[in-house]
Amino acid sequence: METQFDQNERERLLAQYAEIATLAGGLAHEIKNPLSTISMNLELLAEELQDGDSPRDRRMLRKIEVVRRECRHLQEILDAFLQFARVGQLELVEADLNRIVQDFITFYQREAEKHGIEISPHLCPNLPPVQLDESLMRQVLMNLARNAQQAMPNGGTLELQTYERDGRVVLEFIDNGVGMDERTRSKMFQVFFSTKPGGSGLGLPTVRKIVEAHHGTIECESEPGRGTRFTISLPVS
Ligand SMILES: Nc1ncnc2c1ncn2[C@@H]1O[C@H](COP(=O)(O)OP(=O)(O)OP(=O)(O)O)[C@@H](O)[C@H]1O
Ligand SMILES: [Mg+2]
Repeated sequence: METQFDQNERERLLAQYAEIATLAGGLAHEIKNPLSTISMNLELLAEELQDGDSPRDRRMLRKIEVVRRECRHLQEILDAFLQFARVGQLELVEADLNRIVQDFITFYQREAEKHGIEISPHLCPNLPPVQLDESLMRQVLMNLARNAQQAMPNGGTLELQTYERDGRVVLEFIDNGVGMDERTRSKMFQVFFSTKPGGSGLGLPTVRKIVEAHHGTIECESEPGRGTRFTISLPVS
């Protein structure tokens, strides 16, 4: 049984956590504004130098391009961080997971085709409804799809399956890409862990946070050279 002391300690830690999270979120926001001013001015500078044909102009333009790329990278890290920090209160509605998956496929299809990825859906009809925050669930699908796409640089197949099992609705997300070695498998859900140049390492931690906020679970099986399967299981409403 939880003692009064444990209870107080827990509340103190929660309050501390909330304060740190608010501070970190505020800091990310504060950095975003000047960063976007810097980006905009770099863009203007680049435009001005575009027409110059002296070697000096071209050298400056190349350096400006490097700084612009790093700015974009910083912006992406801040966006991923804010997305991660924002997962708190859910706006739950009773939803059909198949419809959300179907809508996602319609949305993602063109990009998948561009990367030589074939989407293969196996959606079990008459799934029971689940309580979902639809916009967060779309984020889950998008983060998993982006990882799958990056794991299949020469194209491949992305299989999306839904079914009901033991009173839960299950979504499987399967790619036949590069897969993960042991070390990556053990670290993939850690914040800021990434094996990609320029990866923020917040994609999967955000996915897991969203799934767990829905009282769901996420598991992963992966083998180097064969591919990766994520299994998300959600309680039926
Ligand atoms: N489908 C996948 N196939 C192979 N490896 C994967 C897959 N999904 C995730 N990983 C591995 O897990 C790591 C962490 O993934 P995560 O989405 O959290 O971060 P990221 O993709 O590196 O960066 P970000 O998503 O923030 O841009 C990846 O760097 C990659 O090594
Ligand atoms: Mg990712």
